Amino acid sequence: MQMSGMKIGILTAGGDCPGLNAAIRGVGKTAMLEYGMRVFGFSYGFSGLIDNDYQELTENQLSGILTHGGTILGTSREKPFKKEEKNGGNGVFTKPDRIKDNYRNLGLDCLVCIGGNGTMKTANLLSQEGLNIVGIPKTIDNDVWGTDMTFGFDSALQSATDAIDRLHSTANSHRRIMVIEVMGHNTGWLTLYAGLAGGGDIILIPEIPYSEEKVIDCIKSRYAHKKPYSIVVVAEGIRHDPKKTAATHIADIIKEGTGFETRETILGYVQRGGTPSPYDRILATRFGAYAAQLISEHNFGSMVAIQGNELATISLSEAGTQTKLVDPDALLINHARFIGTSFGD
Ligand code: F6P
Repeated sequence: MQMSGMKIGILTAGGDCPGLNAAIRGVGKTAMLEYGMRVFGFSYGFSGLIDNDYQELTENQLSGILTHGGTILGTSREKPFKKEEKNGGNGVFTKPDRIKDNYRNLGLDCLVCIGGNGTMKTANLLSQEGLNIVGIPKTIDNDVWGTDMTFGFDSALQSATDAIDRLHSTANSHRRIMVIEVMGHNTGWLTLYAGLAGGGDIILIPEIPYSEEKVIDCIKSRYAHKKPYSIVVVAEGIRHDPKKTAATHIADIIKEGTGFETRETILGYVQRGGTPSPYDRILATRFGAYAAQLISEHNFGSMVAIQGNELATISLSEAGTQTKLVDPDALLINHARFIGTSFGD
């Protein structure tokens, strides 16, 4: 073990997902055991950093958490740079000021921010304010720029696919149309993958604008080909009537356009809970260990990533300012079209 004498902070921010504890463990154990660093965990994302709510973590606290869902540190959607907080006015201590103060008073050498798009945005802004930051990408949405994969996605994909499988058999028995709404914020990664894995007949994602007529025609044509049930997998972020959910919006269109019995299911937070998949445990562990290694090398201002199965880094200024969308012309989409999957376009 090297005795770097460094002190690092760690927090988890944004929506939770499976694998957060594996990442905390990966960072913490590597930092303590390999580099002799001290590790401080902040509670509930950036709220803990603003309120100076932290505890020094011991190696024992990091044992036995690899398989647990959620996050031992807690999380929140606190955004310290939100517009109204930017200018504190005369003598008012702003949230970013409090963060910088707490970081410096504790004598931190680096802060590890584990989160999705919003977190990388904040991490980038804190880095621009002069703090040493390393980011780790997590989210069931898989929409963080610069990494092929975020941890959490694979576990959510398993839950969503399992749900679609179950809905398949009841749809078949009743000759019904099942509309299933999948999370993903403004992107369609989870819907696309779960839709493909679950054999969805129609997959609607924000990146491919759909036509109501095409959706109706597809269901009618399946019926004409003696397939009296259909599985329609829709992303929460598709264009829909704001007074309805995406699933209800599409189900109403189908009911009206076909007259077939239609039911909708919103998978919701079930997709975010539970134990991480083996893939996510491994990815989160690798990300965590690599983040600690970067800190030991004083390589700050970046996010760890995976590109073509190799660990990589990307600057926070890139990762924190863009969203990774599904490419509508991707080979994956074309291959799905070859087997008859409709994207409603
Ligand atoms: O980013 C993860 C996610 O689950 C999105 O898929 C979803 O749109 C959002 O979080 C829900 O946010 P909240 O937890 O604030 O309701």
